[in-house]
Amino acid sequence: MEKGVIMSIIQLKGVEKTFHDKTEEVFAVQEVDLTVEAGDIYGIVGYSGAGKSTLVRLLNGLEQPTKGIVKVHDQDITQLSTKDLRNFRRKIGMIFQHFNLLWSKTVLENIQLPLKIAGVPKAQRKERAEELLALVGLTGRGDHYPAQLSGGQKQRVGIARALANRPEILLCDEATSALDPQTTDEVLDLLMDINKKLGLTIVLITHEMHVIRKICNKVAVMEKGRIVERGDTLEIFRNPQQEVTKRFVKKETAEDDTEQILQAFRNENPDGLIVNLHFTKDSANEPVISQAIRKYPIDISVIHGGIQKTIDGRFGNLTVMISGNELHQQQALVFFKGQGVEVEVLKGE
Ligand SMILES: Nc1ncnc2c1ncn2[C@@H]1O[C@H](COP(=O)(O)OP(=O)(O)O)[C@@H](O)[C@H]1O
Ligand SMILES: [Mg+2]
Repeated sequence: MEKGVIMSIIQLKGVEKTFHDKTEEVFAVQEVDLTVEAGDIYGIVGYSGAGKSTLVRLLNGLEQPTKGIVKVHDQDITQLSTKDLRNFRRKIGMIFQHFNLLWSKTVLENIQLPLKIAGVPKAQRKERAEELLALVGLTGRGDHYPAQLSGGQKQRVGIARALANRPEILLCDEATSALDPQTTDEVLDLLMDINKKLGLTIVLITHEMHVIRKICNKVAVMEKGRIVERGDTLEIFRNPQQEVTKRFVKKETAEDDTEQILQAFRNENPDGLIVNLHFTKDSANEPVISQAIRKYPIDISVIHGGIQKTIDGRFGNLTVMISGNELHQQQALVFFKGQGVEVEVLKGE
């Protein structure tokens, strides 16, 4: 592949999926266009019922679309025969919220299962499974049963099994939703590591914006079967457009007790100016606050907020109180704006 050439590995055009319930039609996926490039960690986020699982099942042919084209590697998979579809599915790995391991089989046997189905000879299976165990950091656990493992370890087995046939695409359906926050981060680190090491393309669906922020370079937001917003993760976090996206971003970045803290500051400092500084450009890396304090005779207290990072850069909000005379307060605001920081003055009640 030529350097710099963008290669789309998954392409959806005008895809719809309608389920016919007893009494009604469910429009699970509607008019979805989507392009995933090789090497992406592409996140799809949405509330429960938005159509995420249906969409991801369309990508490996577990569901057939009612309408539209699903291309993987330039091949329209909706046109494949049953046999070709079965072979094709082998080249796409998938992991699930509840791991879907066989409880009566050992870790090594679980990992070897897809290899067995693919007809790989026994000795090779064993060797490959050991290799995969090492890749996911479970060397020495091959003889354990799933019930003897923690949630994070179970998902590592799920990942090893999904990678057994060397897929180029890994689909993750709420793969960390059953895990505690720390284990979630460990599994996400592993996915990021595999993405880099193996050049694996990952499509990941979740209802947690934290997952998106942590590892995805691209994100699409789904609502009622449609993709309502999409883009580079950093851009979406910095400038969400749709209401649903704003809600997701806010949940990942906001603190709960904000309003009470603000009120306490207002009571203590009636002359202070409370402003929200919105860092959308690379200004989030600049020490603009300390610069402002040095430039003008003012004090700035941070009330709440913070700068967070995605894999591509930083973004964030800081709510601060600027104390000083009115002229200097205003000069500081002009200074912030000049540094590419968006400024919103919060009026007291
Ligand atoms: N096999 C099915 N038969 C009927 N309705 C379904 C089926 N699968 C999903 N749905 C419906 O499609 C919609 C989207 O579901 P789903 O893709 O599971 O959403 P999500 O994964 O975002 O929670 C829901 O209204 C769900 O009830
Ligand atoms: Mg789902």
